[in-house]
This record gives sequence, C-alpha cells and structure tokens, in this order.
Amino acid sequence: MVSDHSMPPLRTALLAQLLGALIAIGLVALLYPALFGQPIVVAVLQGSCAAFTSYKLEAPPWWHPIHLGFMPLVVEASKLDLSPGWYLGAFALLLAVYWRVAQSRVPLYLSNEKTAAAVAALLPNRNCRVIDLGCGNGTFLRKMARLRPDCSFCGIEYAPLPWLWARLLCIGVGNCHVTYGNLWHQSLADFDLVYTFLSPVPMPELWSKACAEMRPGGLLVSNTFAVPGHEPMQVVDVVDRRATRLYCYLPADRG
Ligand SMILES: C[S@@+](CC[C@H](N)C(=O)[O-])C[C@H]1O[C@@H](n2cnc3c(N)ncnc32)[C@H](O)[C@@H]1O
Repeated sequence: MVSDHSMPPLRTALLAQLLGALIAIGLVALLYPALFGQPIVVAVLQGSCAAFTSYKLEAPPWWHPIHLGFMPLVVEASKLDLSPGWYLGAFALLLAVYWRVAQSRVPLYLSNEKTAAAVAALLPNRNCRVIDLGCGNGTFLRKMARLRPDCSFCGIEYAPLPWLWARLLCIGVGNCHVTYGNLWHQSLADFDLVYTFLSPVPMPELWSKACAEMRPGGLLVSNTFAVPGHEPMQVVDVVDRRATRLYCYLPADRG
C-alpha cells in the first residue's frame, strides 16, 4: 500500500550481508586462509564489510551497527548450544509484534500520556468519534477514552500481538472499541478526529485517503510526522521529554 521508490529495507540488508560475506571470505581466502580456523575473526571481518556495504548502499545509519554485530553474535550464540526452538520462539514473538513492518515501514512505538491529554484538548465540547489508525497496544486509546467518557474511540491494528493486547486493555472501557484490520481498508468518513503515529513513509498516501474520505471539519492529527508539501492548520507542541509535535490538518476543508 505504501509507495516508496527506494530499495525495500530487507532487500538492502540481505544484499549487505551477502556482499559482506563474499568480500570477507574472498579476503581471508586470498590473504590468510588459516583464519578460517577462527570463525569469530571471520565473523568480525564479515560484519565490518557488511556495515561498509550498508553504508555504501545508503541504508539508514542505524542499520550499520546491526550489520557489524549480526554475524559475530550468530557465532557467539551458536556456542550457547540453545535448542532451535528458542530462536523460532523469539522470531515468532518479534513477528507477532512487528508484523509486516518491512512493507508498512511503521514499527511499534507508543504515544505517551501528555500526548493523549494534548489530543483530548483538541476535541470539541460535544460527543464525537475518534479513530487511532494503527492503535498499537491500545494504551493511547484507553487514556483518551478515560479523559473523554462522552466520546467514542476506535482503534484499528493489524499486528496480532499489539491487537490482542489492545483488545484486552479496552475490555470494560465502554467507549473504546478495537478492531483487527488494515488501516488502508478503514473508511474515515464517520470520524471527527483521525489520529495517527506512523512514520514519514505513509504520510503522502494517508493524506490522499484523508482528503478523499474525511468529512468537512474532520481533524487529522499526526504525531511527529508532517504531511510533506501541506501546511498544517495548527501545530501543537507537547511539553514532554521527546518534544512531541502534533501536526493538525483539515483535509476536507483545504483550499
Ligand atoms: C507507531 S505505532 C503507534 C501506536 C499507537 N497509535 C500510539 O500512538 O500509541 C504504529 C502502529 O501502526 C500499526 N500499523 C502499521 N501499518 C498498519 C496497517 N496498514 N494497518 C493497521 N495497523 C498498522 C503498527 O503495527 C503499529 O502498531
């Protein structure tokens, strides 16, 4: 659903690892074959080559230390003699939390309490409907629902574990409802305020969706990520440690 013309991050990462391995193996074979008897040294060399390749491929900077440490950690972990089930379990857990992040480019991180209070202050003094697109574990929704018991709050989430967590968290909170699904298939027509905390990647597409579906007067509030090329109607600076900014738009009333 997300349009981005750069190489997908997992493909870049795989390429960096493979090229790193080829360069490291080539160097050791040519210069000092006896090093093959010391896997950790070869792994450190592979990690350095992979990190350099990642840098050359212009991957985001936080990928480089991951490449540097990956193969050395694999070599060290293999000495622990852990059952493969632990690795499978850890993989399944990460998958259930981060789901299709390589495609959506939206990982899980959470809005804080001060942000919930700032968004609640943007709501009109009448009952209204709010949706959190990609509601994570539902903590933001539940805080909002408690701050404004007269309004109704919906969340939509497609990562299985955060969704389940959100469902459980909102049990007994009558004005809070969480559904499992893809935000791109959710109509925005019925909401007075649409809240998002995604990433820079989906913002242009989200803007088109909001313009097509939101009703006049409907407020789009994006935590941290502005819509490129469009002036927000208002920017709210939340006084918190991460200096959260809320970009507020009226998509149906533009122009
Ligand atoms: C940064 S978290 C924000 C969580 C919550 N809104 C908050 O502010 O605390 C973004 C969430 O969006 C979810 N997400 C990303 N793409 C999605 C999609 N296409 N449909 C549903 N959820 C999605 C992710 O799984 C993640 O839980």
